[in-house]
Amino acid sequence: MLKNKKIAIIGTGNMGEALLSGLISSGSSDPKNIICTDVRENKLKSIQEKYGVHTTADNVKAVEASEIIIYAVKPQIIASVLKETASCLDMSKLIISIAAGVPLVAIESCLNKELRLIRVMPNIAAFVKESASVIAAGGKATQEDIKLSLAIFDSMGKSIFLKENILMDAITGLSGSGPAYIFLIVDAMADAGVKVGLSREDALFLSSQTVLGAAKLLIETKEHPGRLKDMVTSPGGTAIAGIHTLEKGGLRTTLMNAVEAATKRSQELGEIMIKNFSNEQ
Ligand SMILES: NC(=O)c1ccc[n+]([C@@H]2O[C@H](COP(=O)([O-])OP(=O)(O)OC[C@H]3O[C@@H](n4cnc5c(N)ncnc54)[C@H](OP(=O)(O)O)[C@@H]3O)[C@@H](O)[C@H]2O)c1
Repeated sequence: MLKNKKIAIIGTGNMGEALLSGLISSGSSDPKNIICTDVRENKLKSIQEKYGVHTTADNVKAVEASEIIIYAVKPQIIASVLKETASCLDMSKLIISIAAGVPLVAIESCLNKELRLIRVMPNIAAFVKESASVIAAGGKATQEDIKLSLAIFDSMGKSIFLKENILMDAITGLSGSGPAYIFLIVDAMADAGVKVGLSREDALFLSSQTVLGAAKLLIETKEHPGRLKDMVTSPGGTAIAGIHTLEKGGLRTTLMNAVEAATKRSQELGEIMIKNFSNEQ
């Protein structure tokens, strides 16, 4: 079903290209059905050569020609790009925004007409087709729209549908911002490896591969993390000594506080966005 749909990607930067690459390499979409826009002509030329898709610097033309429109421009400019293309948006098109921190109500207030809207919160692992993406739907989006969106974002990782729009800030705090927490943990583990005598290169490889392996084990076995932790900790052994130190340092509380702080920040930024979007009316 997705394969025959005409798709526009508005803003083919880092995320737009990750999405484009996922759609094509997974075979979910045909290059001849995709049109990409950007402000930089050289970028469009290289996208066209690399993926064989249509390209244009004209957002309106791309929106007119498409049934699914994915807005992948920065949050700071999405209001002006929505306004620029608003006259060609109607209920015949599925409109998807991946702009971080821009609530659906802000987009609704900016466009001020009935539209099939979807908001998606992907994360940076989209670049390696391992994004954890969450899809939320506006009031007029259909079940078919949700299915299409899941198919689109499954092409660059794994995606789930969230019924409660209000939890999008929590998603931003957990999986949207989560890669940053893990990078910090990996960096700290690499430092620790260096401290106990490993080369920087080996320490970084070993900590990254350990995180990848642990995540894969969790996902593939579907075991509870506590049970897997019990499997690694032998009586009087090394892992339990390390875990004792992590618990003393408040690792769990620190991570919970981090997700809570990021969620609150996302709520604050969302409120600012709603105000800015309605001021642009
Ligand atoms: N990167 C992430 O990890 C991540 C995670 C979750 C969500 N997101 C969201 O994804 C969206 C895209 O992020 P990104 O990191 O891919 O940003 P990006 O690399 O800056 O991509 C945006 C692209 O749009 C182009 N552009 C600027 N003005 C435009 C216009 N009027 N019409 C068409 N294209 C235009 C930009 O060109 P110039 O560079 O020349 O301005 C750039 O190539 C953002 O809303 C962000 O919040 C990103």
